[in-house]
Amino acid sequence: MVSLPNTSVFGGVYVLRVASPTRGRMHDCHLTSFSLPHAARRTGQSVALATKGDAAMTDRIQDFLRDRRAKGLDTGPCVVVDLEVVRENYNNFAKTLPDTRVFYAVKANPDPKVLDLLARLGSCFDTASVVEITQVLATGVSPDRLSYGNTIKKERDIAKAYELGVRLFAVDCEAEVEKIARAAPGSKVFCRILCNGEGAEWPLSRKFGCAPEMAPQVLEHAHRLGLNAYGISFHVGSQQRNPRMWDAALASSAGIFRDLAERGINLQMVNLGGGFPTKYLKNVPAVKAYGQAIFRSLRKHFGNRIPETIIEPGRGMVGNAGIIEAEVVLISKKSADDKVKWVYLDIGKFNGLAETMDEMIRYPIRTEFDGGPVEACVIAGPTCDSVDVLYEKEPYLLPVSLEIGSKVLIEGTGAYTTTYSAVEFNGFPPLQSFCI
Ligand SMILES: Cc1ncc(COP(=O)(O)O)c(C=O)c1O
Repeated sequence: MVSLPNTSVFGGVYVLRVASPTRGRMHDCHLTSFSLPHAARRTGQSVALATKGDAAMTDRIQDFLRDRRAKGLDTGPCVVVDLEVVRENYNNFAKTLPDTRVFYAVKANPDPKVLDLLARLGSCFDTASVVEITQVLATGVSPDRLSYGNTIKKERDIAKAYELGVRLFAVDCEAEVEKIARAAPGSKVFCRILCNGEGAEWPLSRKFGCAPEMAPQVLEHAHRLGLNAYGISFHVGSQQRNPRMWDAALASSAGIFRDLAERGINLQMVNLGGGFPTKYLKNVPAVKAYGQAIFRSLRKHFGNRIPETIIEPGRGMVGNAGIIEAEVVLISKKSADDKVKWVYLDIGKFNGLAETMDEMIRYPIRTEFDGGPVEACVIAGPTCDSVDVLYEKEPYLLPVSLEIGSKVLIEGTGAYTTTYSAVEFNGFPPLQSFCI
């Protein structure tokens, strides 16, 4: 971190107070973290790189991108993930929820460097496939630190996971319980219950989980087949901005614990899922607020008999650690009197920004022209597919001076970008990724 005299940081926008050579007095020059070196050039000052604001840019990412540009390697979009931010996020989860084990949701970003770091920090891992299981085991962690958290698994994949040592599986129906009883005998299973996803920007709908009333039957079936009926899981929806949304699911979980206890089956664990948000354009509560709300609900519904708990953060662990650098390929209008400009980037829905589907996730986009006048733009990707439009229903305000060839920085892109990137759709390569 460097301190810049006359410089303050407002939500990732640097305001540099400079003496105007023409007017001889101080004026504010609004810059993004991205544009600080340009400003230094313009004002003739020698300025070291900037400090981190509440946006995702860090000195390390800024240095990396500058070096990449200087070497002429910036020919396509890339995401850069700062592992120091991932470390901070892990420590924050561990500190805020001290009695809860962290199972990082590998799907958010399975880069080996992210997995290695989290393994060293003591994290456990939520995996969705045999490939993810082998990626995690490659870090050297023992298989008792893994869960196979996908409720939809082929029996031969369950057998493979069992062979690799995994003994903790998610289910949401009796048919899945039967597969596990055959392919992974004696394992622990937890039953996922449905959540409505209210309050989440990326709700997970009805695809996973069963009605809470059905869970006792599913877990009793597991018990009958020789499995360890271990607990309940739920996911309140990704990018969940309301910390109180865990309450109803915890009330249902406590009811299922009581119901099964009456049948002689004592559950031990509640998997609180993911849902912890990262900061995009709107502010989000701090992890501490989630920890406090969850703990209050656990007390309220379980009294003094609070079960073992785990969390599965994905977005909240890596989202704010990543920045995408992309380039403006074209700026155009559809007619002479068109009110909105079309800005086409070299990144779109198929090479990293799939979560802009239905404009659900709205990423902060910084440019070197921030601070000047803005105008409404449609932002689109580079492919020949007409769904490859990022923001149109609600146009995005971008600087009037933005030019073809300008670089843009897309913040909060450490989660669900590389993993959603198609392999060469339209000949565009998958998103390049660097973990530093
Ligand atoms: C089972 C499971 N756990 C955890 C996560 C991670 O959720 P988030 O990224 O909201 O933390 C997901 C995301 O899809 C999931 O399916």
